[in-house]
Amino acid sequence: MKKLLMAAAVLTAPFVATFANAGDDVLLGEARKVAATLPPKLLAALQEEINKSGPEGAISVCKEMAPKAAGEVSQQTGWKIKRVSLKARNESRATPDAWEKAALEDFDKRAAAGEPPAQLEKGEKVDNEYRYVKALPVQPLCLNCHGPADQLGAAVKAALAQQYPNDRATGYAAGQIRGAISVRKPL
Ligand code: HEC
Repeated sequence: MKKLLMAAAVLTAPFVATFANAGDDVLLGEARKVAATLPPKLLAALQEEINKSGPEGAISVCKEMAPKAAGEVSQQTGWKIKRVSLKARNESRATPDAWEKAALEDFDKRAAAGEPPAQLEKGEKVDNEYRYVKALPVQPLCLNCHGPADQLGAAVKAALAQQYPNDRATGYAAGQIRGAISVRKPL
């Protein structure tokens, strides 16, 4: 195990050093960690609620639990964290700003060119903040509520139409990029 870790360190060190200075490395590492806390929590909660009460019953997980969990992470870490998308379901929460929009557009291009969506990320200092985004790929489970409109369950469709009249977040296929986790911290 120790050997393996050393090998990994030797392999990744030159790569990282080429792209950022030491201070940025620390921030990038922190940002990655913070961004990684949310998706597994959401996925587990979604899965559990879908099993219990079907996808229509799990809508509240994405609607209420996601921002609540994001708020908790912010309080614990000092990093602001949110989800953004080029095709937002909840415009008021998830509309990307210019920096996030450019990153999301770049992710779509890179995914189309064959890069694995789960690895797409970007982190850098912007003005007096460190900012980081990590792509959120569509998994089969997500299709319950973000798949092609004609393939959604009737109850899901009705609930979405009622709660999100301007919904743009359907029509996805597995492997596409649904959006990104976006984190930022003042420096
Ligand atoms: C049970 C239905 C449901 C499932 C399953 C689901 N979502 Fe969502 N998703 C929603 C709803 C509802 C919203 C809007 C939440 C809000 O009001 O902030 C949303 C919002 C989002 C957003 C924020 C951007 C936006 O469009 O508002 C992202 C990103 C997202 N979902 C990704 C995913 C991913 C990735 C998966 C699979 C791992 C997934 N969702 C599974 C219902 C679902």
